[in-house]
Amino acid sequence: MITKKIKQHFPIFRAHPNLAYLDSAATTQTPQVVIDAMNDYYAKYRSNVHRGLYDISITATEKYEAARKQMAKFLNSAPEEIIFNSGATFGLNALARSLSPRLSHRDNIVLTRMEHHANLVPWQEMSKHYGFEIRFIELDPTSYQLEPNSYNVIDENTKIVSLTQASNVLGAINPVAEIIKLAKQKSPKVYTIVDAAQAAAHLPIDVKKLDCDFLVLSGHKMYGPTGIGVLYGKKIMLEEHLEPFMFGGEMVSDVTYERATWNEVPYKFEAGTPPIAEAIGLSAAAEFITKIGMNTIVAHEKRLTDYALEKLTPLVNIIGPSTPSPSQRRGRGEVSRLGVISFTIPGAHPHDIGEIVNRAGVCVRVGHHCAMPLHKHLGLVGTARASAGVYTTKKDIDKLVSAIKEVKKIFG
Ligand code: ALA
Repeated sequence: MITKKIKQHFPIFRAHPNLAYLDSAATTQTPQVVIDAMNDYYAKYRSNVHRGLYDISITATEKYEAARKQMAKFLNSAPEEIIFNSGATFGLNALARSLSPRLSHRDNIVLTRMEHHANLVPWQEMSKHYGFEIRFIELDPTSYQLEPNSYNVIDENTKIVSLTQASNVLGAINPVAEIIKLAKQKSPKVYTIVDAAQAAAHLPIDVKKLDCDFLVLSGHKMYGPTGIGVLYGKKIMLEEHLEPFMFGGEMVSDVTYERATWNEVPYKFEAGTPPIAEAIGLSAAAEFITKIGMNTIVAHEKRLTDYALEKLTPLVNIIGPSTPSPSQRRGRGEVSRLGVISFTIPGAHPHDIGEIVNRAGVCVRVGHHCAMPLHKHLGLVGTARASAGVYTTKKDIDKLVSAIKEVKKIFG
């Protein structure tokens, strides 16, 4: 069970004791163990990795490779299937650039209506060059869950299915394993990609169970540092299907003035000096999550989400699943939505909501949350969004609720 004492692990709450931080979907706060792990690198063994034969460089290499192992454990993969990069946006851009040349105007790729710009715009750009069609799995406008009847957009010409595990706007959790299985039945050579940026800190992720070919995540949304992320790829995909997308030092095996050959995986995808301190910090974050226990985190955030939905539903329009819909109802102990609650208040612009709740020390994000097409699809200019993390308490939700009452007094 997570208690309010967990806030003690996060120095931000010493600096701002009254902060109701409800913007974890944008970025999470950093626990002291992550800061310490990064400081240790800078203070005690800062040096480059894979390049030095002296002691501190050997230590840096060992810690960096241990971070890779930790992330592999976190996702249930092999260490060589973990590529460090700057975040999910980088990972998705790299996949789009590297896989799209395999596609032509006869092919299609399938996304969902609820994708973040990072899992839409790179594909739009590549489609301009390679001519493939972009299709969308539809959204049920009442349950805010994916519409299973529209899975039939996937056909034998679908070469890529790339979908978010959980929406950063709606909080909806998608049945990604089911969709991946279906995609592979319909189009055996399809590449499947999971955007786990929003899910990584809130749901257990097992790449073997998902059976995805690739998965991306961002460290800063899972209590890790900014500027670090992971691109997971099945070994066979990394070895035989994905072309390198960055060129330079370390990713090569032999170089002449005329040509180069590539290093083995994962190094052929890590050109240049990697984000060493950040990778070490990210692994400390994954360890922090693992020590608390993902099941404990899921239960904690479910309790808070239920509480928040109960308090907010009479006051605002919730833009996202409010209860599990029959077709999406999960098994025991499973949840159908994350603690990401977007909402609107008639008569109040989302920016006004954000500003007024800020006066009470409540941090929410307002706008389109990097999902402009989804908002337009729903006929909305924007939403206000409250999102939970391990440190969120009922008191934080209560503060939000009373701040919203203030908004309603002004605009009601
Ligand atoms: N993708 C992040 C969000 O949803 C930045 O706020």
